[in-house]
Amino acid sequence: MDLRTLSVVGARPNFVKMAPVLAELRRAIPNGHHVLVHSGQHYDRMMSEIFFEELGVPAPDHSLEVGSGTHSVQTARIMERLEPVLDRERPDLVIVSGDVNSTMAAALVAAKANVPIAHVESGLRSFDRTMPEEINRVVADALSRHLFVHSESAIGNLSAEGITGERVAFVGNTMIDSLIAVEPRFRAAEAARALGLNAGGYLLVTLHRPALVDGPLLTEVIGRLGAVARELPVLFPVHPRTRKMLESLEVDPAITLTEPVGYLDFLSLQADAAAVLTDSGGVQEETTYLGVPCFTLRDTTERPVTIDVGTNHLLGLDPTRIAEILPALEGFQRPASPPPLWDGQAAERAVAVLALEPAAMPEEGQ
Ligand code: UD1
Ligand code: UDP
Repeated sequence: MDLRTLSVVGARPNFVKMAPVLAELRRAIPNGHHVLVHSGQHYDRMMSEIFFEELGVPAPDHSLEVGSGTHSVQTARIMERLEPVLDRERPDLVIVSGDVNSTMAAALVAAKANVPIAHVESGLRSFDRTMPEEINRVVADALSRHLFVHSESAIGNLSAEGITGERVAFVGNTMIDSLIAVEPRFRAAEAARALGLNAGGYLLVTLHRPALVDGPLLTEVIGRLGAVARELPVLFPVHPRTRKMLESLEVDPAITLTEPVGYLDFLSLQADAAAVLTDSGGVQEETTYLGVPCFTLRDTTERPVTIDVGTNHLLGLDPTRIAEILPALEGFQRPASPPPLWDGQAAERAVAVLALEPAAMPEEGQ
C-alpha cells in the first residue's frame, strides 16, 4: 500500500506554504494518492485563484466553498463539509499549514476521525491568546503527529507545551521554498515600474490584523502614512478585511491604494521596496529572506528569528511610531544570510519524514 494524503488549504498564506509540499508529495511518493481540499475561506480571485496559477498548483479535488463568517460559523462549516470528504477519501494522513481557521478546523476533523495530522509551520507562538491565530496554532499543534518547524525557537515553544521527541522535525520554511522556486520570475516582473515607482524608492504597506484594522487605530495609520507619502511614495495593496474598513475613511490621495496584488508582483514589490510596513506573518519572513527592512505594527511577533537576523523591527501596536521608519532606514545593514534551513528544501525534508509513515512502507514480500 502507498501513502494516501489529504491536504487542506483555505487562505492566502496557506497556498504559498503548501504549494511546495504538494509538488514534493507527487514527486517523492508518486504511487501515493494525494488529494487537495480548498475550504473556500478566501475566495476572491486575487486572494486565491491567482496563487494556484502562479505557483502551478493543480485545481483542488474538493472545494468546500464555506466563504466568510464569524470564527465559530466558519470553523463549524469547514468541519461539517470536510468530514464527509475524509470519509470518502480515507487518507492515511491529513496535512495542514499555518494558523488560519481552516488549519484548526481541518485538524479537529482529522483528529476526531483518528487520522494522523502533519502541521507545516508548527510551534510559532505570540503568547497572545487574543489573536485568533494563536488559538489555531495551539490546537493544531496539540493534535498533530508530525510538527514541522521552521525555526529553532519553535522547538522550545513546543517543548514548553510537552510536545517533544520524534514528533517534532526542524525542516525549514516552505514559504521560502515557494519564494526561491519563483525567484527568476519575480526578479523579472518589475512590478514597481509598472506602477510608476522606482526600485528602492517607495514604502510598501500591507495590514490586515483585526487588532489594527477593525478599530480606530486604522484612522491614525492612514494619517501617519499620509505624512510619510510627502517624503517617500507609499504603495498600499489593500486586504479585503481592510478595504471594508477603509470605505468609511478619508484617505490622503498621496497614498496609492490598490487591490491585493498577485504573488509574483507582491514579491517583486517587496524585493524592490525601500522598506515594508506590515502586520503580516508571511511578509515578516519574506522580507527577512530578501534582506529588506520591515517594520511590524504589532506588540508581539511569533517569528523572533526575523528580529534576530536584523531585518524586522517591532514598532508595537502604535501608529505614531510610523514616523520612525524613514530615520531608521539610514543605518540599515543587509543581513549576511537568511535563517538556518530557509534554503528552498524544506518541503523535501518534510516529505522525507512523511514517506516513512507506515502506510507508505512496501507490504511484506513486495
Ligand atoms: C485570515 C486569517 C489570518 C491570516 C489572513 C491572511 C483567520 C482567523 N484569519 O484573516 O490569520 O493572516 O487570513 O490573509 O483564519 N474577504 C473577502 N474576500 C476574500 C476573503 C475575505 O472579501 O476572498 C473579506 C470578508 O469580508 C471577510 C473578511 O475579509 O469577512 C475577513 O476574512 P477572513 O478569512 O475571515 O479573515 P482574514 O482577515 O482574511
Ligand atoms: N501577498 C500577496 N499579495 C498581497 C499581499 C500579500 O501575494 O497583496 C502574499 C505574500 O507575499 C505572502 C502571503 O501573501 O506570501 C502572506 O499572506 P497574508 O499577509 O495575507 O497572511 P499572513 O502571512 O499574515 O498570515
